[in-house]
Formats: sequence, structure tokens, C-alpha cells
Amino acid sequence: MLQKCIKCGKTYDVDEIIYTCECGGLLEIVYDYEEIKNRISKETLRKRQIGVWRYLEYLPVKDERKIVTLFEGGTPLYRCKNLEKELGVKELYVKNEGANPTGSFKDRGMTVGVTRANELGVEVVGCASTGNTSASLAAYSARSGKKCIVLLPEGKVALGKLAQAMFYGAKVIQINGNFDDALEMVKQLAREKLIYLLNSINPFRLEGQKTIGFEICDQLNWQVPDRVIVPVGNAGNISAIWKGFREFEATGIIDELPKMTGIQAEGAKPIVEAFKRKAKDITPYKNPETIATAIRIGNPVNAPKALEAIYSSGGYAEAVSDEEIVEAQKLLARKEGIFVEPASASSIAGLKKLLDEGIIDRDERIVCITTGHGLKDPDAAIRASEEPIKIECDIDVLKKILKED
Ligand code: F0G
Repeated sequence: MLQKCIKCGKTYDVDEIIYTCECGGLLEIVYDYEEIKNRISKETLRKRQIGVWRYLEYLPVKDERKIVTLFEGGTPLYRCKNLEKELGVKELYVKNEGANPTGSFKDRGMTVGVTRANELGVEVVGCASTGNTSASLAAYSARSGKKCIVLLPEGKVALGKLAQAMFYGAKVIQINGNFDDALEMVKQLAREKLIYLLNSINPFRLEGQKTIGFEICDQLNWQVPDRVIVPVGNAGNISAIWKGFREFEATGIIDELPKMTGIQAEGAKPIVEAFKRKAKDITPYKNPETIATAIRIGNPVNAPKALEAIYSSGGYAEAVSDEEIVEAQKLLARKEGIFVEPASASSIAGLKKLLDEGIIDRDERIVCITTGHGLKDPDAAIRASEEPIKIECDIDVLKKILKED
């Protein structure tokens, strides 16, 4: 088990606190896959409770006693028959990450990232966040008795997420800037070793998130979807999920790979633009803007990993408008009973758009990832809904309303 630069191949010990290579490249964790293959089988995996830690051999942990968990992962994979009919597709699933302990997929990353912090013996952890990362880190730091500092873009964090970060006891700092500015600031603190950084530039966090890929195969009875559609912000999650599929392939659990398809918001789509130019580098957005505040990010740090995942899987990248996002959010709630936050609904909006454009085949087996719970952003949901009906306590009026459609 080593940290390895995806650009120059240089390796580092896992106990070295370093977030990027000396050459500036991103790091990933690599394992001895032959060894994992010999230790693991589908049957042994299935004997354990579903969730992130079912896949222990694939995770960068040396001392199991140091694991910090709130029982993350094991989220439902819903077959969506009503949406299949609505959109005209054969086989559609939603992997609902809003069902995690703090309501987003970030918990998968934090259980591993904070466990690593525990193993390293660090006492202060921190992150920049559009909201969910801060909520999750605050919870896992509370559980492991660490000090936690989070930097948020003022006025651009959904209410539920802000409430969580504050309530779990993190030191919450709002900056007069956006997520990208906040990330630069916490990176500086990390370079000066004042905090252990738990943004997705930390490769250990992505190790937890790759279990989304593992679980999809597991829940489809070891079959692989043709396509996985993922909302993209800082671009860690799509990269992590792809790594999960590749590692299951490398260890003989599966023998096919899905097309990784990333969806961004119109006002924050540097990865989509790079993809459409067939480029490997992005041009950052200075002023990203979207109702999907979770993915309001102009300079995604994991862009090289995400673009590699999209290109090498034969996937795609597309952007959707705020209107399309809200429509998709409503559709998912009203057709399937699944309430997600706006950023999450971008995967459904992207599916709809790519079906219309003829990029996605209607016969594909598709999994859309919904990344965060709808209650995270109650303001967005209320804004997109009709006002409740107000009446006096009069049963006849009530009966009349009941008859209306
Ligand atoms: N969906 C939700 C609900 C998110 O909170 C995020 C990222 C994403 C999608 C995008 O994932 O960054 O791995 O591409 N939220 C981060 C945060 C940035 O601070 O909570 P990504």
C-alpha cells in the first residue's frame, strides 16, 4: 500500500503527510491487487454487513481499532420503474447517497479520512466546503474527539448543511469568497501543518468514496451497469467511483467497466468544456454560479483524475441548466419518492438531456448517483414548490378542497 503520483509515478509511504506529489501531480493509493485477489472472494464479502467497511481489504487502514464509523454506506440502489416509463429507458437505478449518516456521500470518504487522521495521530482536521463536506467532517471529528475547522463561502451554503456543521461543534468560518478561494486558504494551512486537510485532494478520502462503485456491483448481484452518471463539483467522487470499478476488475470480482458520465451545472462547467475540447486540462471559472450550490465550483482540483475516468471509460460529460436541475429534482420526488438536493438531481437532468441528444442508448443499464438528501437545502425545495393551502378550521372547506384535483 503506497501513495502514488498519477502524473510522474513517484511513490510515497502512506504515513507521509503529503497531499500532492513534488511534481504537482495528484496522488492515489495503490495496493497489491494480486494479494487482495487471494484474500477476497464474492462469498467472503457477502458475509459482512453491507457498507464501506465490507470492503476492508481494499481500504488503506493498518489498525482496525482506529476506525471511526457512523455506519456509512450500504445506501439503497432503487430500481426506478416510473422514471423508466417517463424517460423511455429500459433499466434505471438510483443509488441514493442521501441515506448516509449525515445525508451525503461524503461520509464514505470521511470514515476513511478521519480513520487515517486517527492513525497518524493528528488532532486538528479541516476542510473548505460548499456544505456537505463540512457537515460530514464535523460529525466524524466529533466522534473521534478531534478539533475541526471548516471554511465556507458566505451566503452560498444550504441551510441544513450549515446547521449540521455548527451543531456537530466544528469551528465554522464563513469567507467573503467562493469555494475555490476557501480551498486555497485551507491548503495553505495544511502546507504549514496547522491542520490535516480532508478535502478530496486527500487521496485517502477518495478511498472511502470508491465503495460506491463496489456497492453498485454488489447490489446488482455482481453485474456491472453500462453507465454511471455522477454530479461533478470538485471532481473527486467520479474519480473515486471509477477507481472502485477498476479495482474490482483488477481483483477478478467483475470483468466489465461502466461508462463514467459526469454532469455539471451550466454556470460551473470547466470539466464539460475540457471534455468537449477533448482536452486534458481545464480552464477554471472565476465566478461559478448555480442553484446547485454543492457543485458551485470553478476550479475542480481532481479534474485530471475525472477526465481520465471519463475518457478511458468511453463516458461523457454534459452540463444542465438550473431549470433542468429543478425539474429533475421534482420528477425524482414525485415519480419515485426520492427527495434529493439540487446538485444530486443533476445526474437525472443529465440523463434526460443525453437521452434527448442521442448520446445515451435507451437500452443501457443506467445508474444515476444522487449525492445528497433533499432536506439539506429546504430553501431550494420550498422555492420550487407551490405554497401550501391555508384554511380556517372548517371541515366543509376541507372537504371541498379534497374534491379538487
Ligand atoms: N453532490 C453533492 C451533494 C456535493 O455536496 C458535492 C460536493 C458533489 C455532488 C460533487 O462531488 O466534488 O466529488 O465532484 N460537495 C463538496 C462539499 C465540494 O464541499 O461538500 P465532487
